[in-house]
Amino acid sequence: SSPSEPSLLDRVPVVPVVVVHDLADAVPVARALVAGGLPVVELTLRTPVALEAVRAIAAEVPEILVGAGTVLTAGQAHEARDAGAQFLVSPGATPSLLAGMADTGLPYLPGTSTVSEVLAVLETGVREMKFFPAEASGGTGFLSSLAGPVPQARFCPTGGITPANAADYLALPNVGCVGGSWLTPRDLVAAGEWGRIERLAAEASGLVTA
Ligand code: 3PG
Repeated sequence: SSPSEPSLLDRVPVVPVVVVHDLADAVPVARALVAGGLPVVELTLRTPVALEAVRAIAAEVPEILVGAGTVLTAGQAHEARDAGAQFLVSPGATPSLLAGMADTGLPYLPGTSTVSEVLAVLETGVREMKFFPAEASGGTGFLSSLAGPVPQARFCPTGGITPANAADYLALPNVGCVGGSWLTPRDLVAAGEWGRIERLAAEASGLVTA
């Protein structure tokens, strides 16, 4: 990425985490998120159609930044890149997964939930990471405790973030954005309720970061 591009953490206050079960939903979901003011989407590699969904969004919705989430292996990192993913997100950070994501040349957010994992990611030269599962791993208390000793690490907390707690995370100095699946609930996607997804995105896009 060029120096003029904002980092992954500084594009939108909320990164929509999306699970696509039906490939036909991928493009309309992406368009609804863009219409609501969130031109970033993390497609989780949790369904058989996920890579095809990444490919479809990359081809048909060029105004969105599409990434792959739930990247568990170096092989998946490369498959996601080959499908057109523009960034990668993993729930954890093993040495081989970190190396595999770095090898794609794409920006990526490795998952961390302990101080030692954060330090291990920093040692690889990466300062931006996911904090997952955020609520279960200590939430805003963990992150504000970390901001003193390790201020150079910046986070996208994900896992248990809701409209009720997102602002508390976004107020922290070491949080750039949060991630969450609440914008694209399974029932709204299945029902093709694109207007309601657009409104959820619009509410989230108005959240203010520190
Ligand atoms: C993720 O994939 O990062 C999480 O499953 C999203 O967590 P949430 O469903 O609690 O928002």
